[in-house]
Formats: sequence, C-alpha cells, structure tokens
Amino acid sequence: MYLIRLAVFLLFQFSVSAVAQDMETSETVWAVFAFNVHGDSIPDILPQPRTLSPIGAQNLYDVGSAFRNRYVMGAASNVDETASPDFLVKDLAQHRLNADEVKIYSGWDQHVQASALAFMQGFYPPITGQNDSFLYVDDTYLLANGSIATSPLNDYQYPRIYAAGAADPNSIYVSGQGDCEMHRISELQYQYSPEGQSVEDDTAEFYSSLYDQAFEGVVDAAWVSYANAMEISEYLEYGYVHNASLQGSVTASDLQRARVLADQYAFATNGNVSASGLYEGDMIRAIAGRTLARLILESFEENMETQGASSKMTLLFGGPEPIVAFSALAQLASSMNSNFYGRPVPGASLILEMFSMNSSLDPTYPDISDLYVRFIFRNSTSTNEEFTQYPLFGMSPSLIDTPFLEFSAALGGVLLPSTEEWCNTCNSSSIFCVGSSPSEIKPAKPSLSLAGAGAIGAAVTLGVMCLVGIIGWLCGIGIYRKHKQLKDDGFKGGTKLEGDRDVAFTSPRNGLFAGAVMGSGRQAAKSHERTGSWEMKNKRRSAEISQERLDGEDEIEEATANAEPVKVHEAV
Ligand SMILES: *[C@@H]1O[C@H](CO)[C@@H](O)[C@H](O)[C@H]1NC(C)=O
Ligand SMILES: *[C@@H]1O[C@H](CO)[C@@H](O)[C@H](O)[C@H]1NC(C)=O
Ligand SMILES: *[C@@H]1O[C@H](CO)[C@@H](O)[C@H](O)[C@H]1NC(C)=O
Ligand SMILES: *[C@@H]1O[C@H](CO)[C@@H](O)[C@H](O)[C@H]1NC(C)=O
Ligand SMILES: *[C@@H]1O[C@H](CO)[C@@H](O)[C@H](O)[C@H]1NC(C)=O
Ligand SMILES: *[C@@H]1O[C@H](CO)[C@@H](O)[C@H](O)[C@H]1NC(C)=O
Ligand SMILES: *[C@@H]1O[C@H](CO)[C@@H](O)[C@H](O)[C@H]1NC(C)=O
Repeated sequence: MYLIRLAVFLLFQFSVSAVAQDMETSETVWAVFAFNVHGDSIPDILPQPRTLSPIGAQNLYDVGSAFRNRYVMGAASNVDETASPDFLVKDLAQHRLNADEVKIYSGWDQHVQASALAFMQGFYPPITGQNDSFLYVDDTYLLANGSIATSPLNDYQYPRIYAAGAADPNSIYVSGQGDCEMHRISELQYQYSPEGQSVEDDTAEFYSSLYDQAFEGVVDAAWVSYANAMEISEYLEYGYVHNASLQGSVTASDLQRARVLADQYAFATNGNVSASGLYEGDMIRAIAGRTLARLILESFEENMETQGASSKMTLLFGGPEPIVAFSALAQLASSMNSNFYGRPVPGASLILEMFSMNSSLDPTYPDISDLYVRFIFRNSTSTNEEFTQYPLFGMSPSLIDTPFLEFSAALGGVLLPSTEEWCNTCNSSSIFCVGSSPSEIKPAKPSLSLAGAGAIGAAVTLGVMCLVGIIGWLCGIGIYRKHKQLKDDGFKGGTKLEGDRDVAFTSPRNGLFAGAVMGSGRQAAKSHERTGSWEMKNKRRSAEISQERLDGEDEIEEATANAEPVKVHEAV
C-alpha cells in the first residue's frame, strides 16, 4: 500500500514539474517582494485588545490565494485557467512551503501577525485541502512502520513568521516610523504648522458633529479632531462594517470625508519628503519608506547571490504608513497618479517583481543587466482584483519596466543603509540604539552597495544584543537555542559581509523575542505601530508643550515622553 502511494506520489511530482517546466514563457520572475497592509481589525480606541476580525482574516486569505494563483500555480492552477505562466516565480515550491524560499516579516501586534497567518493559509493552503491531496507526502510523513502521518487540520502548513517587537532592530523594516522619536516630533510640528492648523480649523465643525454621531461615550470630545484623523477614520470604517447603529447615524459622505482627511494627514506626516528632522534632507517623515527600501534591495540581492535559490518571495505585513512613505519616495504620488496620495485599503499589497525577459526554459540565472523590476499595486482584497502595474520614479508609462540597475541606483538614493543611521536620524532611545553616536551621521547618500554601510551599526548593535541576551538570561528568560548554522538562519541580507550581522541575528534575536514577551501585558498587547491608542489623548498636550518651545531640548524630550509612554524595552 505504502509503496503504491509513494510510486503515485513520485509519478505525480514528475508530471507536475514537467507541466510547469514545459510552459514556454517570454519572461521569468525571479523574486517578489510584497508589503501587505493588515486586515480589518478592532480599532485602537475601543477597549478590547486589537485583534484581526474574521472578515479581516477572510480578506487576507483571499489576497494570499490571489498571490498563489499568480506566483505559484499560474496556468497549472485548476482554479483559474486564465492565469498566465509568465508570473510564476521560478522554481518556487508548488505545494510544500519552503521557509528559505518564502520569508515573512510581520509587525508585533496580533492583528498584523494574524493577517500574515491568514494570508499564508491562502498562499500555501493545507496540503490535503489541495486538489491532488495525499500525493505530496515527503520523507517527513513516513513512519518507520510504513504508515503515513499528516499534520492536523488537513495537513495544515506552519509558516515561519518573523514578528519583530519594538525592542528588535528588525522592527524598523516593517514600521520604520514606529519608535522613531524624530518622526513623532515632526508629526507634532506638522500639527502645529500653519498648514496643519488651517486644516484643523476648517474641520473643527465637521469633527464636532462626528463626535455627536459616533463618538459619544467612546472618547472625549476634544480628542475628535484632525490631529487624530487616522484613528477616527479607522474607527468609523470598522463601525460601518460591524455596528448597525453607527452605520445608521453616520452618512456615507461623512465617512468619506473622514477618510479623505485621514489620507491627507497620513500623507502630510509620512509622504512629505521635503520635511527634515535633525539633518537637512533626511526625509524624516518618509522614514518608513527609507527602511523598507533597504529590505527590498537586500532581498533582491540575496536572490541574486544564491542564483535564485533563496528569497524568492519576501512578504511583509504592517500598517499603511510604509506604503504611503514608499509611494512618495518612488514618486508614485506626484504627477502620475493622485490615488497614491490616499492610504491603501486594509489588505492592500505593494508588490515589486524582479524578472528577466528570458524564457523560463532557460535554466541559467540572468546577468544583473538583464534583470528588471516592475511595481504593482493591488488596492483591494478581492480575488478578482488585477495586479496593476505603475511606473516608478516618475518615468513615462512606456518605460514601465525599470532595469534593475536603475532601480537600485534610485532606491540607493533614498534608503537608510543601516540600523545605526536609523538610530541617529530618529534620535532614538530604543535599546538597540544605545551606543550609536549622532556625530557619525552622514546625510542620505546614493549607495548601491548595502554591504559596508551596515558594518558600523553591526558592531554596535551586536554589542547591545549580547547585553540584552545576558540580561534576559539573568532574568531567567529561556532563550531559544538556534540549531542551524548562521547561513540558514533566516533573514539574512543580500551580502555575505560582516556588515550583515545586524540583519541576521541568531541567539540575540531570540533573546529579544523573549524580552518582548515579557512586556506583553495589556500595554504591549495594545501597542500600535504608530502610537498607542490612549496615548493619543496625551498627544495634544505633548504637542502644546513642544509647540511652546520647539527649540528647547528639554521640552522636546518631555513631549516625546508624553507622546509615547509605552516602550517595550523598558520592561527588559
Ligand atoms: C479540483 O479539480 C477538479 C477537476 O480537476 C476541479 O473541478 C475542482 O474545482 C478542483 N477543486 C479545487 C478545490 O481546486
Ligand atoms: C505506526 O507508528 C505510529 C506512531 O508510532 C502509530 O501511531 C501507528 O499506529 C503505527 N501503525 C501501525 C500500522 O502499526
Ligand atoms: C456602536 O456605535 C455607537 C455609536 O454610534 C456606540 O455608542 C456603540 O458603543 C457602538 N457599539 C459597539 C459594540 O461598538
Ligand atoms: C512639507 O513639509 C514642509 C516642512 O514642514 C512644509 O514647508 C511643506 O509645505 C510641506 N510640503 C507639502 C507638499 O505639504
Ligand atoms: C486605494 O483605495 C483607497 C480607497 O478607495 C483610495 O483612497 C486610494 O487613493 C487608493 N490608492 C490607490 C493607489 O489606488
Ligand atoms: C537573456 O536575454 C538577453 C536579451 O534579452 C540576452 O542578452 C541574455 O544573454 C539572456 N540571458 C541568458 C542567460 O540567456
Ligand atoms: C536626542 O535625544 C537625546 C536623548 O534622548 C536628548 O537629550 C536630545 O535632546 C535629543 N535631541 C533632539 C534634537 O531632540
């Protein structure tokens, strides 16, 4: 019986791969990078913990399925005959998830991690739920006595999701603005700038009427203002889906106006690339896009260095801010398409595909000069939504495919090359920033090679990591042992130089995981990439303080402390 199954299995594997390989294509996709916004979740201002709602999970599952159709199954899919084989990622495993091929980074919060899980359930569904069930057994299924054992839930596949808490330097990839003090100060500066004040005045009446319709008993009246436009819009959109009484009391046009104001606020505070913080030209408000840009190049470089074997898919899950920031940096939001001034919908995906114009029958990895990048934005969770391509860097639509070398040169001009530079640009007091010295800061500069830049930061961060590890150990926190070599250990950057240590943590990373778990009381559970909910109430007060004497360092420090009282690292 077992032998028959195995024979069928082998035969089938052979025929499947034969089908996939025989498909002549005009292009070959080598690597895909996608940032996905989390799904519908309980808004921050409600007292319940912020969790992904069932409809949010369903939406992310659908997005994962759409990705599966395009990148994994292509024309081999029974589900969608129209999918083109052109977009299959070269040699990406069809049925069994491979953690080296697919790397998943997530924010720390439950609604973000759960979004990543729901996406993965659609992207690599349980094996026996797949059509040709049972045929995909491998050695790990076989028992010594000849029987076959499968995982629970129809042979569910367990993805590895790297969720970084605020004390983890890798958290800056998913939300570079999250714990960035200068970003927060710059946001307060916007609120008190003439532009911010004029919007605030013009909308005061609108927000006060919204308070009467939907916020009474939920928050203070003073809180409902333009300064909290994003949280307000988030709450209304959630309520519109889940709360019949709110749906009855708020009109569709008010809902839309709240959304547009939130878009405006999000763009002014994350997409304004001319505002500077401590250093002229540091694009402090778009910092989340600058950190994201670094990971994009690192994953593509890793794919090149391994000749396409590793980092075939890099999937990130987080809030909308990095997309707003990246869109501004990549000049999507300028002349071409004013839609990029708006925030992406929950579950939206920003995608970069690295491909060559060579047929997939061609087994050799292309030369770097034969690689291209295309930008895709998918602003919906519907499985029918197209993968729509847009030109990057203000290029004309006829030059929609960007040669990789041009792409990396342009991105090199905006990316933050190291964790240390993030620490300095943000003037961050995060635990992993201890020891970085602001005097060494260099302004943003074009840099094609990411290698050297991380080196300085690495030494510093590594030292701190060790310290954290020791503290964790002293506190009796179990630190997971790593049992694979450094090389295999996940999220390694694109180069093999020393400098990448701040990307590829081994035990220190687990130490930080443990530290973050320690802080997972009520406050940590409610922490948000941007700012915690109830802390938002303090924001106004902080803003006033910072406005009074913006130049006084003490005041700024106080403002910062008020604006963000929750810091996971304080618990370490
Ligand atoms: C399984 O395959 C059959 C025919 O090959 C098709 O009709 C059916 O829709 C497929 N089911 C799923 C879940 O893919
Ligand atoms: C084979 O081994 C597994 C695990 O030890 C056991 O659960 C199963 O009943 C065994 N099957 C047979 C046919 O003995
Ligand atoms: C529904 O919305 C109303 C305001 O319109 C609010 O008072 C009520 O608490 C909300 N219910 C829930 C369950 O959130
Ligand atoms: C960007 O921010 C700067 C500094 O706060 C401000 O002067 C400028 O008007 C803003 N630009 C836009 C397009 O809002
Ligand atoms: C995505 O959809 C939202 C809501 O409709 C809209 O405000 C935003 O401009 C859209 N973004 C893009 C890039 O289409
Ligand atoms: C890929 O195609 C380009 C032209 O489009 C060609 O110059 C190059 O040699 C091809 N690469 C391989 C590995 O065949
Ligand atoms: C930077 O941070 C340090 C320590 O947190 C603080 O003393 C200093 O005032 C900050 N500088 C600015 C310009 O905010």
